[in-house]
Amino acid sequence: MRQKIIAGNWKMNNTNFDSLLLIDELMNYSFPPDLRIVVSPPYTQLSLINEKLKNLKIEVSSQNMHYESNGAFTGEISALMLKSINVYLTILGHSERRTYFNETDQILLKKIRKALEEDIEIIFCIGEELSDRKSRNHFNFIKNQLENTVFLQKYDSWKKIIIAYEPIWAIGTGETASPDQIQEMHSFIRGLISEKYDHSLANSVSIIYGGSVKPSNAENIFYQPDVDGGLIGGASLDSKDFASIVNAL
Ligand code: PGA
Repeated sequence: MRQKIIAGNWKMNNTNFDSLLLIDELMNYSFPPDLRIVVSPPYTQLSLINEKLKNLKIEVSSQNMHYESNGAFTGEISALMLKSINVYLTILGHSERRTYFNETDQILLKKIRKALEEDIEIIFCIGEELSDRKSRNHFNFIKNQLENTVFLQKYDSWKKIIIAYEPIWAIGTGETASPDQIQEMHSFIRGLISEKYDHSLANSVSIIYGGSVKPSNAENIFYQPDVDGGLIGGASLDSKDFASIVNAL
C-alpha cells in the first residue's frame, strides 16, 4: 500500500520566530491520521522544529544534503549531521537546486547513494521545462532523469524513495499543470517503474505532485488515481492554506 504524503517545502523563508509561530498555528488543526505530513525548514531550524514536533505526527525533512560524510566542503551539510539531529528524510534534486546550484543527475546520483547508505529517506524531485513540454519531449526528459538516478538503485532501496513530479514551469509561477497533465505524467512514471522493476513495486511507490498547489486546486489534483500527495512551496508558509491542502488529500 502506498502512502499518502503532503510535504511543505519552506525553502529559504521564515525566521525561527516565524517558523515556531507557523507550527503553533498548525497545531490548531486536526489532520487525517492515515497520511504523512512533512515540513522542510531551512537547515538552521531543523533541530528546533524537530524538537517542537516531537510528540506530533508531523515529520521534519531537510531540503538538501551533501554526498560526502564530512570534509572540506564549506557551507554544506552531511547525512551524518542530519542523522545526529534525528532527521531521516530529505528532499533531493529540487529544480531550484538543479538550476541555481548546478546540481546535475551525476551529482544527485551520489547524493541518492549516500542518503540510502545512511538510511535517509528521499523525496526525489524530477520535472521538465516548458520548452520540453512544448516540443513534446517531456516524457523522454523525465525518463532520462529517472534512468540517470533512481533507476540505478536496487529494488529494496525503493522503500526509501518518494518521487515528486514538479514541472519547472509550474513552480512558484501560479501556473499549475492541469489534473489531466499531472495524472498522465504520474501514470507514465509508475509505468516506467513497473517496466524497470515490477508491478508490485510500482504500486507501492508514492508519487507526489508539486507546482503551485493551492487550496483551490488541491482537491482536483489529489483526486487523480496516481497522485499520492503534494510537495507544497508557497502555500506551505500559511497555516490555513497548508491545513486546507492537507485536508484535501
Ligand atoms: P510552489 O513550490 O508550491 O511554490 O510552486 C513547489 C516546490 O517548489 O516544491
